[in-house]
Amino acid sequence: MKRKRLVVLTGAGISAESGLRTFRGNDGMWEHENIEDVCTPDALRRDPKRVKDFYNFLRKGLPEHAPNAAHIALAKLEERLGDEFLLVTQNVDDLHERGGSKRVLHMHGDLMKLRCTKNEHEFEFTGEETLDTKCPICGSPVRPDIVFFGETPLYMDEIQEALMNCDEFAYIGTSSVVYPAAGFKSFAKSYGAKVTCLNLEAPYGDPYTDVVIQGKATEVVPKWCEEFK
Ligand code: NAD
Ligand code: APR
Repeated sequence: MKRKRLVVLTGAGISAESGLRTFRGNDGMWEHENIEDVCTPDALRRDPKRVKDFYNFLRKGLPEHAPNAAHIALAKLEERLGDEFLLVTQNVDDLHERGGSKRVLHMHGDLMKLRCTKNEHEFEFTGEETLDTKCPICGSPVRPDIVFFGETPLYMDEIQEALMNCDEFAYIGTSSVVYPAAGFKSFAKSYGAKVTCLNLEAPYGDPYTDVVIQGKATEVVPKWCEEFK
C-alpha cells in the first residue's frame, strides 16, 4: 500500500458547531435516548419501528445543519495531500461529504444509507424508512446502515493498514471512549506515527498523544490544516 502520510479520525465534536448533538457532552444524545433502545441489534429485533423512527428523525434533521469550517478545511487538506490522506469518521452524518470530502470511511455507518438484512446490499436513502421499506436490489427487508453497539465496525482492515503506514495520526472531536476507534492512537503510535489531538476537552498527559491542540474545531482545525506539512 502507498505510504499514507496522514490519517484523520473524527468524532461527534467536529459536527457540534454545526448544531448536531454530541453523544456524551452535556445535553448529549445519550441523555435523550437510551443506547439500549435505539443502537443495539436487540433493540432492532425488539422494536424495529422505534429504531427506524429514531434514525428517520436524525436523517430528516440533517439538511438544517451545514458543514462548518472544520469539515471544509479537512476537505481542502484531502485535495492537497491526495491519496496520502485518509479520513475516517465515527459520525453517521453527511457533513464531511457536504463539506467537500471525496472519500470518507464511516466506520459506524451512514445515516444516508439503508442496508438489506438478507444480502447486505447498501443503498442511498433520504426518505422515511418504514417497516415495509424493501431493498430495491433484492426485495429483502432493510435496516438503517448504522453499526450498533456490539456490532463490528466497518472498513477495519483498510483502517488498520493505513494506521500501520502513516507518518501522522490526528483525532478530532472525539471523547475516545468507544473502541476500536479509541485504540487507533496507540496502534498508530506503535508503528511510529506522530499523534495529534484536536479537541474541546484535551487529554493532557495521554501517553500516546504527542501534540494536544485544545479548542473548538472551527477555530483549531482550519489553522492546523493550513500549517500541515
Ligand atoms: P463499546 O464497548 O466500544 O462502547 C462502550 C462505550 O460506549 C462506553 O465506554 C460508554 O462510553 C459508551 N456506552 C455504552 N453504553 C452506554 C450507555 N448506555 N449510555 C452512554 N454511553 C454508553 O461499544 P461496544 O458495545 O463494544 O460496541 C462495539 C462497536 O459498536 C463500537 O466499536 C462501534 O463500532 C459500534 N458502535 C456504533 C455506534 C453508533 O452509533 N453507530 C455507537 C457505539 C458503538
Ligand atoms: N470542537 C471540538 N471538539 C468538541 C466540540 C467542538 N466544538 N464540542 C465537543 N467536542 C468534543 C468533546 O470534548 C468530546 O470529547 O467532542 C467529543 C465528543 O465526544 P462524544 O460525544 O463521546 O462523541 P464520540 O467520541 O464521537 O463518540 C464515539 O460513541 O455513542 C457512540 O456512535 C457514537 O460514534 C460515536 C461513538
